Amino acid sequence: MAENKKIILTGDRPTGKLHVGHYAGSLKRRVELQNSGEFEKIFIMIADAQALTDNADHPSKIRENIMEVALDYLSVGIDPEKSTIFIQSHISELTELSFYYMNLVTVSRLQRNPTVKAEIQMRNFETSIPVGFFTYPISQAADITAFKATTVPVGEDQAPMLEQTREIVHKFNSVYGETLVEPQILLPDNEACLRLPGTDGKAKMSKSLGNCIYLSENEEDVQKKVMSMFTDPDHIRVQDPGKLEGNTVFTYLDAFSNDGHFAEYLPEYANLDELKEHYKRGGLGDVKVKKFLNSVMQEELRPIRARRAEYEKNIDLVYEILRSGSETAKETAAKTLEEVKHAMKIDYFQDPRFLTEQKEKFK
Ligand code: TRP
Repeated sequence: MAENKKIILTGDRPTGKLHVGHYAGSLKRRVELQNSGEFEKIFIMIADAQALTDNADHPSKIRENIMEVALDYLSVGIDPEKSTIFIQSHISELTELSFYYMNLVTVSRLQRNPTVKAEIQMRNFETSIPVGFFTYPISQAADITAFKATTVPVGEDQAPMLEQTREIVHKFNSVYGETLVEPQILLPDNEACLRLPGTDGKAKMSKSLGNCIYLSENEEDVQKKVMSMFTDPDHIRVQDPGKLEGNTVFTYLDAFSNDGHFAEYLPEYANLDELKEHYKRGGLGDVKVKKFLNSVMQEELRPIRARRAEYEKNIDLVYEILRSGSETAKETAAKTLEEVKHAMKIDYFQDPRFLTEQKEKFK
């Protein structure tokens, strides 16, 4: 039934390889959703056009990361048979939709977007904000509505974009008639997955800080990063009581470990609660906890690494997945754009009434 069709659209900016923060916050869930069979269609977008809104001077950085992100997607288990992976800039219909949606949003509304505000500060744009960057929430509304997405699985930082999208949908539908679909955000259900910190304990993971564990990283490097992770700086001797708040190792365990991991790698404890109790009491050293986390992370990343290695041997195939995905996505977006133009009464050459009306008028 057309009414109950559930459709996913989500994506990432190709500004670097994807890391475990992306994985915990969104990628892992996407694969589960993909395999749940609950969704009629799934679109996963490499948001190169959005990435260019604050990387206008670095087009080669974006170009370099298209294939990396595609490999990351495929390696975590996004299945091109079930999900359409595509490149944003190939879908020119999205820019056209954005242009019409711009008329439905005020400058002051954009200025209130907390994610954009934070990004402006982070990039020191302040007085020199590129217009394209400032309006990217509108273009994101185009991304989502072009595919009639009902469900958008993303991290918490994307909530303001979803809110903006829903406002645009309301406004559009009330002005031009019921055309667009109102999407719902789907956040990770695990608290730790919402905001996985960097390995140094800093809230933001970033390439320049060197505090990310990448999905494509080898076993040795992952181990190094885990073993040097930020813990409780006051937990100096093993017998000291330890703090869990702000303790990155435990945040990662919250995000990734399950009881099965304990049975396999640390059977003295039944579960994470027991391990936490011991840590708080004192008598449990950081190294032991980190070794356990390393086992958990390696188990999670091993199959991802193996799948990546297979795809890396067949870049022609990945290219073809992107090319044909982009074609499929374009067809879908073109259909929505047609409906949008029809609702806005600007489909002059598709609507035979236009000529009839005008002839009548000038008779
Ligand atoms: N803004 C998202 C990010 O920073 C990327 C993105 C672009 C996106 N368009 C989207 C996410 C539409 C979900 C839906 O990663």
